[in-house]
Amino acid sequence: MSMPPVSATGTVPMDDRALSSLARGMVGSEVLRIAAEVRAAIASGRDVLNLTVGDFDAREFPVPAPLIAGIQRALAAGHTNYPPSNGIAELRQAVVDFYRRELGIEVPVASVVIAGGARPLIYATYRTLVDPGESVVFPVPSWNNNHYVHLCGARGVPLTVTREHGFHPTPEQIVAALPGARLVALCSPSNPTGTLMRRESLIAICEAIVAENARRAATGDRPVFLMYDQVYWATAFGEAPPLTPTALVPEVMPYTVLIDAISKSLAATGLRVGWAIAHPAVTARLSDLLGHVGAWAPKPEQVATAEFLVDAPAFQAARTDMERRLRERLGVLYRGLARLREQGHPVDAVEPQGTLYLSVRFALQGERCGRTLRSNEDVRRLLLEEAGLAVVPFQAFALPDEDGWFRLSVGATSVAAIERGLSRLEQMLNR
Ligand SMILES: Cc1ncc(COP(=O)(O)O)c(C=O)c1O
Repeated sequence: MSMPPVSATGTVPMDDRALSSLARGMVGSEVLRIAAEVRAAIASGRDVLNLTVGDFDAREFPVPAPLIAGIQRALAAGHTNYPPSNGIAELRQAVVDFYRRELGIEVPVASVVIAGGARPLIYATYRTLVDPGESVVFPVPSWNNNHYVHLCGARGVPLTVTREHGFHPTPEQIVAALPGARLVALCSPSNPTGTLMRRESLIAICEAIVAENARRAATGDRPVFLMYDQVYWATAFGEAPPLTPTALVPEVMPYTVLIDAISKSLAATGLRVGWAIAHPAVTARLSDLLGHVGAWAPKPEQVATAEFLVDAPAFQAARTDMERRLRERLGVLYRGLARLREQGHPVDAVEPQGTLYLSVRFALQGERCGRTLRSNEDVRRLLLEEAGLAVVPFQAFALPDEDGWFRLSVGATSVAAIERGLSRLEQMLNR
């Protein structure tokens, strides 16, 4: 007698209490929620300039061809089994050579651990260094630190950052938060603001961490670590070598975890290769943790990334091409908004410094287009509905203040689409 088919889902009601408190307290990505709304508007036939997701459209920002070819070769050569949990030796060595060449940093291979993009490494860093209830200091707005704090049961110490200080914490803010802190999470160039940390600030912050740890060593306290997320370093504009804490203040190196990936620098968000650089005692545990959750970078991509990173001309060509595409788009957007500001409209933007992001202020709260706008969310909806302009408020990056600042991301859009969006915005503002 044959058994009736069993439906595995949806037949038994299940309330939230069935889930862990961690799962119940989790908040999904606000950016993805907004992006879904935008996709629905586009599907309904509207012309929408989608400046929401921090991702690339491959037609606008293609992955470098040699990297794709390398992945295809590695697949054909049978690299389809498990990689070592800290990454294949060739890629770890390639990262050492790459950082020496591009950033002037010398690290031992034991300090390099590879994973499936930056995210697993950030999560593993939190998990490896921070116990539940311990303090993590991070700027707001910043990308996802509030979520990682929740996942670890840590105590978040958000520092509100302002345009005046380039949307990065000041040394004074960090110094005040250091006692009792277990981790300071910084990111430059920053998502969502697109701004670079200033050299003097980064030096002062690193020196404060070194001094705090000297004090803790004397009393036997555990040290405070710096997690420095530099996934956007290769997208920074200009000739100046990128700032890294370890190059500026070598004494901070034992207490620093550098986070990097090919996701943004090579427009390769879906290929999933990232690395962390830290003290070998830390990388050993990162790798154990990543091994348990299987967050490896796929092996063909590790093989191809190793080949690509040591090919200096190929990397330089990719970097130049990326900068040209970003500058074109961010420049058109920035100049268009500056023109609207000159015409007296209440918009403001921070000059592009790299990344795919522009920080823009729409000071539109009040009575507009027959609506009362009280919050950034109200302004966001107005821009989407009346100007076909899809943007993300800084609140999506844990900033509590309703101060009119938004992130505009150009990774999935063309210059022509930006020009059309600006003209719709101008029409709306004139109304
Ligand atoms: C600052 C920052 N770090 C890390 C990541 C995640 O990178 P990955 O896609 O390599 O996990 C992002 C993605 O948006 C980011 O903006």
